[in-house]
This record gives sequence, C-alpha cells and structure tokens, in this order.
Amino acid sequence: MPKPDYGIDAPRVVLALFFISAWAAAMVIYSVYNPDILPMPVLSGVIFSGGICFIEGLLMLLYAKWGKFRHRDRMLKLYKIRGNEQVLDVGTGKGLLMIGAAKQLINGRATGIDIWSAKDLSDNKLAKALKNAELEGVKDKVNVETADITHNQLPDNSFDLVVSNLCLHNIKGKEQRAKACREIHRLLATGGTAIISDFRNTRHYAEVFDSLHMEVTRKGPYLFDTFPPLTIVIARKLV
Ligand SMILES: C[S@@+](CC[C@H](N)C(=O)[O-])C[C@H]1O[C@@H](n2cnc3c(N)ncnc32)[C@H](O)[C@@H]1O
Repeated sequence: MPKPDYGIDAPRVVLALFFISAWAAAMVIYSVYNPDILPMPVLSGVIFSGGICFIEGLLMLLYAKWGKFRHRDRMLKLYKIRGNEQVLDVGTGKGLLMIGAAKQLINGRATGIDIWSAKDLSDNKLAKALKNAELEGVKDKVNVETADITHNQLPDNSFDLVVSNLCLHNIKGKEQRAKACREIHRLLATGGTAIISDFRNTRHYAEVFDSLHMEVTRKGPYLFDTFPPLTIVIARKLV
C-alpha cells in the first residue's frame, strides 16, 4: 500500500545547500593531499560555509519529513473544528493542511487551491494532492482547484476557516502579498478565522489584516520543529 507523500519544500534550495557542502568537503579533502593549495583562512571559510550549508539542508529535510506534520497539527489546534465548516487551504501543495482539516470534518468540506509551482514543493501536482486525500481516506471531503490566491473566482464570505502554510512569501511584491491577505479576508465568512504561517513577512500580513479590522494575534517563531522557523498569524473576521 503506497504511503502519502507531502513533498520537500523548496527542493532546489535543499539541493543547492547539499551541493555546496559536498563541494566544500571535496575542497577540504583535496587540500589535505595538497597542503599548500589553500591558505588557512580560506580553508577555514570553506569548512565553515560547507558546514552551515550542510546543517541548513539537513534541517530543511527534517522539517519536510517530520516537523511539518507537528506544525500542521499546531496550526489546526488553533481553531476548534466542529465538523460542519468550509475550510480553504491556500497553496495546499500536496494537501498537507487541507487533508489534516478534512480528517476532522463530518459534513463540512476542505478546499485546496494552488498554482502547482515546481520550485516551491517537490513533485507539486493537483493529482498528487488528490492521491494523498485518497490514501488518507478523505477524498470525498475535499475539492482541489488550480487557482492563484491573488486572482481567484471563489465566492465572497464562503469559508469559516482559511489556512495557509509557507505559501504567501512566494508571491512577488509587497502589494501582491497584501492583495492575497485582502482576498483571504474577502473569502472568510463573518466570524471566520485565518491561520497563516510563513517564515517571513508575517508582520506585514498582520498589519494588512489589522487594517481590515480583524482581530489579530501572532505566535512563534517555532524554533524547535520548523526550519526556516515559522510564525503563525491568526486573524478573525469580526464584521
Ligand atoms: C512551500 S509549498 C507549501 C505547500 C503546503 N502548504 C505545505 O505546507 O506542505 C508552497 C505552495 O504555495 C503554492 N503557491 C505559491 N504561490 C501561490 C499563489 N499565488 N496562489 C496559490 N498557491 C501558491 C506553491 O505552488 C506551493 O504548492
């Protein structure tokens, strides 16, 4: 029986980090056999940079294989799902949060939207999100759609909960990211909640939600099980 696979975030970055650390290791081994080829300060710099890249690559892999599931559960615990909600996962990728929410729904539905960017998540495809939903036994509780959060046709006030993890920073330009936050506000029903997690720009997302008169709190960064460390913005639509 195949297992669900939620992919590796920013796979090219992870590859580049391991490539640089392998190159640094090769340089060190070479200079052991050719002691005069690199001056000591340069060799120390190569060892230091290679070591940092290796550790960062490893932490990103650890997050992808272990931390992201803890972080998904942490995000979903911030809203008490009753079972009849309409949930939207913005930038669902292979369905991590959409499926996590769907597992708690009774007659509600979880929708995942994405533009399926290959550089943001490994093997990122609509079919993979649906396959994971099937493997996790929630295919009948999810909709997966191709849509860009900054230009979408989803109806106003249609979701009780909007979640998003590591998506909005991929949108180019501060104004476009603000537009994404305004769209999330538009899609939320009155009384609904947005739970947005990212490794940068979270202060800006909080400011945009605040300017829309939402009740906003920020939590994190979570240094133990996320890398890069993630911060969560929780914004409730009051009116
Ligand atoms: C790093 S992945 C994270 C996927 C998933 N949320 C997770 O935590 O496993 C970021 C996702 O955001 C999607 N994305 C980027 N820009 C988007 C946009 N403007 N609208 C919708 N999705 C977007 C990418 O295609 C990618 O699937």
